Amino acid sequence: MSPDTDLRLRDHVARLADEHPPLRPDDVDFTVRDPRLLDERYGHVLDYMARVELEVDRNVLELMTMLPDPPDIDRHFYADVWQPQEIQHGLILDRLQVALGREPAVTDTTTVSAKLRILGTLAHIDGFQDVCRMIYYLTGMSTERSAVLAYNLLHDGVRDLGEAAVAESVIAPIRRQEPGHYAFYRISATAHWARLSGWQRWLVRRMRAVSFGPVGVNNKRQHADFGDVMNALGITDELESFAEQASRIERDLLWAHHQGLRVPDYVLRAFEEAVTLATDRHATI
Ligand SMILES: [Fe+2]
Ligand SMILES: [Fe+2]
Repeated sequence: MSPDTDLRLRDHVARLADEHPPLRPDDVDFTVRDPRLLDERYGHVLDYMARVELEVDRNVLELMTMLPDPPDIDRHFYADVWQPQEIQHGLILDRLQVALGREPAVTDTTTVSAKLRILGTLAHIDGFQDVCRMIYYLTGMSTERSAVLAYNLLHDGVRDLGEAAVAESVIAPIRRQEPGHYAFYRISATAHWARLSGWQRWLVRRMRAVSFGPVGVNNKRQHADFGDVMNALGITDELESFAEQASRIERDLLWAHHQGLRVPDYVLRAFEEAVTLATDRHATI
């Protein structure tokens, strides 16, 4: 990493730590005017987001597997800033859904998939860890960007239901912390891509094309759950624009040679499939 980028990332992470201490559930106003209506409209969205936020503990294990020897700044970011912030997001959202009378989120915080373990083994080969790092930054970028967009929609949705405390005290403070995460990955991805050789770039493109998934999707059921979230937040009606916003920098870096491409097809396909899976599931219930 160039000294400039390293310094920029260090500044950025220091500022995040300073300006965004982890939120405290006890500071949050959980007043809900109409729990039944809020649950009906957004209960499953809260559950999905709570699960994804709480599963950062597994993401940290995945990272340690996939990047056995990360740069200091990456470790500092995910261990000291990112994980402590995200886990509080999860606890707050989970407390809200329990207040609505729902079960707490069911999370998997320990299973590292076989695919990732293989990557971790390969990461010991010279040059391959750089490929894994790029995948990590790209995944971080698309998931954080999706989170920002989703929290924006959720914020406006609950506010329009008249749930002012939920909008301003639960969702707004969480959403304020997400753009800083996104920026970390964007700066890292842009600088790292510039350093990769031809074969590394080729491999990154291939791996993204076969393994891209929307935020929080680890299996078919969760893929359908994500489709339900898209429907509830109105993303389905703007699917292409959402997919484009979630993957813009990835497109500009990896697919710069594909003039006029709006969204990488694997991204669009993953979002479309979520909607199809959700529709099929509703049809069979
Ligand atoms: Fe978060
Ligand atoms: Fe985040």
